Amino acid sequence: MKKKTFVLLGAGGHAKVVLAALDSMGREAAALLDADKALWGTDLEGVKIAGGDDKLADYPPSRHEAAIGVGAARDTRLRRRLHEAAAAAGYALPPVVAASAFVARSARLGAGAQVLTRAVVHPGASIGAGAVVNTAAVVEHDCAVGDHAFVGPAAVLCGGAALGAGAFIGAGAVVLPGVRIGAGALVAAGATVSRDVAEGAVERGR
Ligand SMILES: CC(C)(COP(=O)(O)OP(=O)(O)OC[C@H]1O[C@@H](n2cnc3c(N)ncnc32)[C@H](O)[C@@H]1OP(=O)(O)O)[C@@H](O)C(=O)NCCC(=O)NCCS
Repeated sequence: MKKKTFVLLGAGGHAKVVLAALDSMGREAAALLDADKALWGTDLEGVKIAGGDDKLADYPPSRHEAAIGVGAARDTRLRRRLHEAAAAAGYALPPVVAASAFVARSARLGAGAQVLTRAVVHPGASIGAGAVVNTAAVVEHDCAVGDHAFVGPAAVLCGGAALGAGAFIGAGAVVLPGVRIGAGALVAAGATVSRDVAEGAVERGR
């Protein structure tokens, strides 16, 4: 059976990385949709930006799967909203795992989880629905990454660390073993975090 093509919701920089991952998986994207009218009719990595949400009906779930193309600068809520809207509209959001990524057999990935170029998810780890393990990030053994959380490029979650839903870990940050980051909290790029972080807090580490 012919595989469905993807429709991506969001056409910013993160979408380029997701397209690269899909390409590495041998999967095709039919179109991207974005609220920014200035992008309509242009293309991203050779895939057209067909319009806004109103164009979703042109790419029905009978023939298309969905992926979220919006990244997160510090706030993960738009990603969650788009994921939930696509799921409610009947789209499957399969995990996107770049061919160069490593996901251990015993790791678990939720719907729409994205494990991008050269990222590592080690045994016993779980990646929640819609969560992102971005370029070259490392999620060590037995970590729990909550739904719609975002692990920035080259960040490292040491063994047994846990991220609450929607938490954001900046590029190159290190979360030490067993540390718990609360839901919606933000860890600054490059921070080293050795103590638990409260829900919604901003942690600059040291
Ligand atoms: C922490 C963060 C959210 C910024 O917080 P903010 O309170 O808005 O900070 P500002 O941008 O106003 O910067 C305040 C000061 O902190 C510095 N600063 C900002 N982020 C910093 C960081 N991660 N590490 C060290 N210094 C930082 C700024 O240079 C600035 O310094 P100055 O006062 O000497 O000019 C942001 O810088 C960050 O780390 N974001 C993560 C980005 C990322 O990793 N994205 C990955 C997406 S793929």
